Amino acid sequence: MVKKRVAVLVSGSGTNLQALIDSQEAGALKSGEIVLVLSDNPQAYALQRACAHNIAAASVDKKACANPAEFEAKMLNLLAVHAADLLVLAGFLSILSADFVRRYEERIINIHPSLIPAFCGKGFYGLKVHEAALARGVKLSGATVHFVNAIPDGGRIIAQQAVAVLPEDTPETLQRRIMEEAEWQLLPAAVEQVCAELAARA
Ligand code: GRF
Repeated sequence: MVKKRVAVLVSGSGTNLQALIDSQEAGALKSGEIVLVLSDNPQAYALQRACAHNIAAASVDKKACANPAEFEAKMLNLLAVHAADLLVLAGFLSILSADFVRRYEERIINIHPSLIPAFCGKGFYGLKVHEAALARGVKLSGATVHFVNAIPDGGRIIAQQAVAVLPEDTPETLQRRIMEEAEWQLLPAAVEQVCAELAARA
């Protein structure tokens, strides 16, 4: 079986990227291989995680691009150079255009830190998701891995994991528990599942 070539797109710390790297090094990622870590921010700590594990790392500085079209053209070029089959958005903060998404139809997945359709869509990122969950008083939140289409957080759901919200939670403690109890297991498992499905189709 030829492994699917996975590009992980990041913007920040990259703890989900780390979970993917750990899963690859533990042999749990059997149907895919991380071939590129690509950031929209050259300062992202996630790039250092890639380098520490001998994985190709690159960035396209969004702020230095004249417009979104230039940014996406540069990203697409790097993805083509590395022959990526699957794009994994792991804390990637840029919203991709409909045209970009169409080029990788059902081949882009994202992790979102809530149980979609709650607390998702435009404006729900980072701590804002957990602030909204606490403000609404939900007793369960969690994480969702889904395919990416032109609607933010709107694509087909692949996997979800619920996590309890505790009375004493702050946005920060809830964010951390959702990462530890849901995201870091859910994303590697979903990446393996989608790579296996893509490999079976090839
Ligand atoms: C995670 O909560 C993820 O669900 C969201 O952004 C955060 C990224 O964290 N999309 P990290 O960069 O993987 O540490």
